[in-house]
Parts: sequence; structure tokens; C-alpha cells
Amino acid sequence: MSDTPNTPEVADIKVTIDGVTVEAKPGELLIKVAQENGVYIPRFCWHDRMKPVGMCRMCLVEVDGIRGFPPSCTLPVADGMVCNTQTPAVKQVQDDMLELLLVNHPLDCPVCDRGGECPLQDTTLAFGPGESRFVEEKRHFEKPIAISENVLLDRERCIQCARCTRFADEIAGDPLISFVDRGERTQVLNHPSHPFASYFSGNVVQICPVGALTAKPYRFKARPWDLDTVETSCTQCAVQCRGALQGTRNRLVRLLGIDSEPVNQGWLCDKGRFGYEFVHSEARLHAPRLDGAEVSWPEALDAAAELLRRATGLHGPASVAVLGGARGTNEDAYAWARLAKGVLGTDNVDAQLGDGLPAEVVLGLPRASISDCDSAAAIVLLGPDLKEELPVLHLRVRRAAHELGVPLVDLSTNATHGLSQYVTHALAPMPGEQHTMAEHLAAALGAANAPGTAIPDGVRAAADAIAARDGHIVVVLGRANLAERPESTMAAAAALAGVANVRFLSALRRGNVHGALEAGLAPGMLPGRVSLSERDAATQVWGSVPEARGLDAEAILRGAADGTIRVLVLVGCDPIADFPDHDLAVRAIANVDTVIALDAFPNESNRRAKVLFAATLWGEKAGTVTNIEGRVQTVNRKVSPEGTAMDDWRIAAELSFRLGEDFDLEAVDEVTDELARVAPSLAGVTAALCRDARDGVVLPLRDHAHEIAYRRPGSSLTDAPSWEPIKVDAVVADAAEDDPAGDSDSAGAASAVAPTDNAPELFVWDREVATVPTPARDAYALRLVSGHTLYDHGAAVAHTPALASLRKSAELLVAASDLQRLGVTNGTAVKVTSAHTSLTVPVRAARGVAAGTALLAILGEETASSLIDAAAPVTDVRVETIR
Ligand code: SF4
Ligand code: SF4
Ligand code: FES
Repeated sequence: MSDTPNTPEVADIKVTIDGVTVEAKPGELLIKVAQENGVYIPRFCWHDRMKPVGMCRMCLVEVDGIRGFPPSCTLPVADGMVCNTQTPAVKQVQDDMLELLLVNHPLDCPVCDRGGECPLQDTTLAFGPGESRFVEEKRHFEKPIAISENVLLDRERCIQCARCTRFADEIAGDPLISFVDRGERTQVLNHPSHPFASYFSGNVVQICPVGALTAKPYRFKARPWDLDTVETSCTQCAVQCRGALQGTRNRLVRLLGIDSEPVNQGWLCDKGRFGYEFVHSEARLHAPRLDGAEVSWPEALDAAAELLRRATGLHGPASVAVLGGARGTNEDAYAWARLAKGVLGTDNVDAQLGDGLPAEVVLGLPRASISDCDSAAAIVLLGPDLKEELPVLHLRVRRAAHELGVPLVDLSTNATHGLSQYVTHALAPMPGEQHTMAEHLAAALGAANAPGTAIPDGVRAAADAIAARDGHIVVVLGRANLAERPESTMAAAAALAGVANVRFLSALRRGNVHGALEAGLAPGMLPGRVSLSERDAATQVWGSVPEARGLDAEAILRGAADGTIRVLVLVGCDPIADFPDHDLAVRAIANVDTVIALDAFPNESNRRAKVLFAATLWGEKAGTVTNIEGRVQTVNRKVSPEGTAMDDWRIAAELSFRLGEDFDLEAVDEVTDELARVAPSLAGVTAALCRDARDGVVLPLRDHAHEIAYRRPGSSLTDAPSWEPIKVDAVVADAAEDDPAGDSDSAGAASAVAPTDNAPELFVWDREVATVPTPARDAYALRLVSGHTLYDHGAAVAHTPALASLRKSAELLVAASDLQRLGVTNGTAVKVTSAHTSLTVPVRAARGVAAGTALLAILGEETASSLIDAAAPVTDVRVETIR
């Protein structure tokens, strides 16, 4: 690798603001330097996460040696600069600017969603004139107009700051709104035939400094002073963006992004932002059911415990299997792992549903953080379409490639995903052959034990681009194609792991799948990244653990289908809708003796459950979750549960009690603390530490304690830029000084990050993979590529009115040459046949689809999953016209 750092260190300079001399980095903007040193300069168009444009002129200041009033948001500081932000002349300019901005602004405050939290209102009160000299008629537009399904635009209120248009272009890469017309008709608008159909549209509502952009789901629902707020993490996907969850009268009404530098930098995708409505859906389960009829909790728990006791007694512990658990908290997953492995004695446990990778691979490779993308030598895409599955990670990778110049090496088959236009080196392997290309790349990068075959030119060019840069190579690792077995991806990861400076960033999508795997909800693993053979810590607390590795999701479903699994426990999952092999899931649910399920909604898989427990959802429960980089953060309860719904961990504890093992866990914090004691990778991650760490903590703590930033008391939830990270060493020293007896919370948090030297070694994957040979494709078949889409057909989307209408319908995408060969035109319905079954879908030629392949998303039962055979290395389909 090059010795040149990608971002060289620069020395500080001195700047004087309102008479106080402060230190800054050369090139930093004056408005930001002032803010970081406690001087607030009013602003509308400037936003810390976007390039400055100097459009609103609200941030004008005086600077010695510069004529007039330069805008502080476009002015980089220089050594010795002297600036004044509060002179009478500056105040006069601020008065004038606000008076002009208000010339056309309507007097909507009493009926405007922004009223009470509006930067224009607040700035006018703090910096504006007492009254306006302009009494003329204001400009008028139709109000409001819908620019997308969820965003309304009131052009009369717009102050033309261009925050929204810049966000759409610079950050989201969806330049679907812009300024049109001139003079007093200047307005923000989308093209008449192209709505602002961005997965990130809700962010413009949050950053608009007036009420010009409002969100349909929140409109007229509440006033800011009616709202209660808790800070939480979104769990619609595994990025787990930080957000401020707001409610009023026991209803969730809004989720705002919080600027967490390491995680989401303030942004949310629309699924996360608007996806809270399903919590209040009419379809929720309100009470437990026994044989379909509502019963009391004791009746349901007694019945389920008896079913489990009978099955283990008659057929042995391995006749019981637990599927799911990636939807809840770390505490939920831990309690279910303890119930399954420590009480029932079964290792047939899997939080994933055939769309991930073995826990050994996910947990046992060197891990990258999300922020490593910013300064990486390269990002290698060895996973799904991030825009569809982990949207805010897509934004981070896009920024790294587009703005920060990080090379993007793509190991996807097709150039159809959200990042395709930023890819610098597309290696385009066919389905089932990722490992071949990855082995070439590893060889070109000098990996030990790389095969000595000839390296293709494209791979060599990618390796040269990587070698020219400093930093880690970040491999984004997940399943690029659910229509093929995972071994090729695993072998590709194993090959790349042989390169010296490679780190892996998991791209598994399910909300808390990483928390579930860390908690031991996977075959062969115990809590804390240890295998069954490292059983001491778990055995001490649990009493016993299974001897042999159990079954994964696919094998569990096969066991249920053939009768070896007698009781299938579904922990918040729906294999019929969600498992990539629909036929196998249907047979499993139909043939298994007994289904016990806990869920928030009835679904196809739990429809025939003997016992169905009503479970709480995000927003109704507290605890911790773990994201793709292994960052543990809190989730918080904002509303009380619907009906008598109970937390997953408590259901597990109640069942265990009835089976003769008392977990002795009364509150969720006790579960967090037990996890911190039992799970080596979570050592020291106590409930107190999680509450105090502003951006959570990254596992394992012993390697990341120095990165923890502690929350300052009284910090605003949504105004993160005013916070400063405080290094843990300083906190430990402060706590010891302030509280020598060590009684306070902060002292507790400080002691929790003490090094955990005696923790066992964490699991390391041996990188042994038995690849499955890919059969030759016949000339008439197309090789299927399948993945998930953001607005899938799962319960969260289906039961959220703001999202349900955004669900896509199935469509087969092929290369133009293949469409021509079929002799049909775009949109024609065709018959698609695999070894499993046939289905009818419209076909369309799409740019970027490789000849010989076909793309079909998994959107529910009747799409790609009905074609896929989980046992086959790849899925070949015949596409025929319908006569
Ligand atoms: Fe600025 Fe809002 Fe107008 Fe967009 S709509 S330009 S964010 S005021
Ligand atoms: Fe939620 Fe994921 Fe969207 Fe972030 S990217 S807001 S975690 S769904
Ligand atoms: Fe500086 Fe708008 S904030 S010109």
C-alpha cells in the first residue's frame, strides 16, 4: 500500500471571534468555527452536512480586512482572522435580511406544522426587526402540492435556501427537485412527470428551515409542545440509525434523524422515518391465543410450556427448533438463546432466515466500522443492493465513492444496483462465481495462499487502484443473490480475508440480526462470539449448553417438513413470506406437529400456531440493539404496548420458569447486565454504560473503549453538532475526581469500560468453505438473481399506510438482447419456470443486466422465492411467452 495517508494531518491556526481567540483547522468555515466555540451565527441555507452555497445571506459578519459583510458560511478561516458577529452594523444587516425574507412569507404560523419549532420564527424573534415596512400583497401559489407520496410542498412558505434541492442532489443522489422560474415566481418543484420518488425524501422535511416541506403522516397531528421525545435507534434495518422518537397521547407521531457521526450523520431513509405507523395498526395482536382463541397470559404460557416439555421428553431436545429473533432487542435474543440452549437443550436455533451468512462468518472475520468507508483504500461490494437493504449505509458508501474519491470495486453480477454509477471497477462475475473473481483480486493484492492462475486485466486494474491508496480495504459482505447458495460468497470472503489490511462490514439487513448473533441465536454459537466449545461462561450461568452444533434455518425447515423437528417456535418471523425457498417453508409449516409463535401480527406462518403470543414492537420496549459494525445502542419505549403484548425476553423468562428454570430477571437492565457478564464480546457493556455513551459502544469494548463519547447532561436530541465527543480517559479521570467513592452513574459507566483482559479469545473463522460446483447453464435458460427491496411485503410496510402504497409489484428484468431473443416487448407478461414451479410476471429490458441473467425481487410469497430451491447452487429459469 501507499505510504501517503488519504487525509493528511494539518496544524491548527488561530482565529479571533467577538474578541475571543480560538483554534481551528485551516479551511474550516467561519460559521462552524464560531458554533464550535459557542457563538451562534444565524443561518438558513448552511447545513453542516452539505456544501455551502451562501444563498440566504443570513450569516453575514464583519471580518477585518474584508470589505462589506461576507457570509460566514462560505468563508474559510485563515490564521490571524478577526471576526465580529454582533456589532451594530451586523445587527442592522440581520434585521434587513429578515425583513426581506418575510416580504413574501405568509402569516401561516398558527396553522403551519413548523410553528413552534421553526428556524425562521426563532431567528426572527432573536435577530429580526420588531416590525416590517412591507404591507403589500404577498405572492401566492396553490398550497400545498404533493411532490411525492409522503412530502407536501407549500411554495409560499419557501425562503429559497436550497437545502432540499442540495440534499436531493448531493446527499441522496436523486436530483428530482430543483428551482424553476425566475424572480418572484422562483419556486422549488419536481418535474411534472417525475415525483420526488426518493427513498430519502423525508430528510428534506426535517432540514427545511420553514414549513414549506411537510410530511403527510405528521401533518396536523401534533404541536411541538405536545410532544414527548425519547432517543432511540431505528430497527427497520441493521444500520440502526439514531433518531428522536416523538409521541403524543400514547401515539407515535414522528421520528427525526439525529446526527450521529459514526452511524447516520443525521439522515434517515423513508422506511425508517415513516415506518412507525405499523405499531398502531388495527391488525395488531392484542392478547395471546390458544388454538386461535384469545386466552389469558397464564393459560397461554402454561400451554406452550407443556408442549415444549412433552416434545423434549418424548423426542429429545433436538426435536425443538427456534427460528427468528432478529426483530427484537439484544435482551430478547439473549433470553431466547438461554431458553433454547440452556433450558430446552436444543442448538437448533437460527435468527436468520436463509438470507444471511453463517454466524461464524459474520462474527469471525476482522470487522470494519461504517466510518472506515470514508478513508478506505477501497470499498469492495460483495453483498446486496445497499440502497434497497441498508439505505443509509448506501448514502455513506456513495459519499465515500462520489465525494471522497474512494475506489468502489463491485463483485455484483449486474450493474443495476443503487451504487452502479459510482463503481470504478466492475468485476461482474456470473451467479455462483463470485469466489473466482475474489480469488483473483486477493491474488493481485498479494494474499497469502492465493491461486497462481492468470489475473484478468480488470482485476489487476482494481488492485492497482487499491494499492495506490492508504487505509483498510472495506469489504461490504452480505448476500448479493438469494437465488444461489451462500458458499460462493463465503469463499469470496475467505479469499479476501487473506489480504493483509482487509476489514469486513456486514451487510445483513434484518433489524437486529447482529445483536441476535452476538447473543447466541445461531447454531454452534453461544453469547459473545464464542463457539459451543467455549462453554464455561454460559454454563456457569445457564447450568448446561448443548454438546453438538444444531441446525440452521434451512435444515430446521427441512426437519420440520420431514417430521424430525416436532415443535417449531417462531420468534417474530414469517418463513412462508420471508424464507427464500417458499415451497420448503410451506411444507415445513404444514407438516410440523406444533407451531408456537410470538408476533405482533397474525401471518401465514403463525396462522396454525397452537399458541400465539402477542409481542411488543419497537417504540413499545426498551433495551439495546447491535448494528452492522457491532455498535450497541439503546432503544427506548415511547408508548405503552397495544393490549397486553409482552416483550420477547419476558415471554422466554416466563416459559423458562414454567419449565423449572428461574432466570431471576425482573427488568430489562438486568438482562443487559447479564449479557455483559456472560457474553465475552459484550463484556463491560452494561445498561448504565449504554445509557451514557452518546453514540453507543462498539464491540468488543476492550478494542474500542477509547472511542466512546459520553453524553453531556442537557444536550438537545436533534442538535448534535453542538456536542463534543469526550474521550473515555477524560471521563474516567473526571469520574474518579468528582466521585472518589464511585457511587455516581458516570463513575459506574467509567468502571464498566475498564479493560476486560480476562475475557476469552473471541471466535475467529477458519475460512474453510466447501464450494458447491455451479452447473453449466443451457443456452435457453437465464440464471436468476434475487434480493430484497426496501418497500417489501413484510408486516412493517404492509401495516404502515405511508409505505404500503409504495410497494413494488413483481417485474422480471433481463438484458435487451435476451428480451429480443424472446421476441416480446417491454411489459409483456411471460411465464417464468424453474425446477420448482412457474409464475407469470411482466418482463422488461434493463440497462446493466448481464446477458444470460434475469432479475426478480423477493416481494412476498408469489415472486422469486417460489422459484428458488434452497438446495440448488444456482437457480436457472426458462422464460417463455404466453400464447
Ligand atoms: Fe429551503 Fe424549504 Fe424552500 Fe427547500 S422548500 S428551498 S428547504 S425553504
Ligand atoms: Fe432505519 Fe435502516 Fe432506514 Fe436507517 S437505513 S432509517 S436504520 S431503515
Ligand atoms: Fe450563510 Fe445562508 S447561511 S448565506
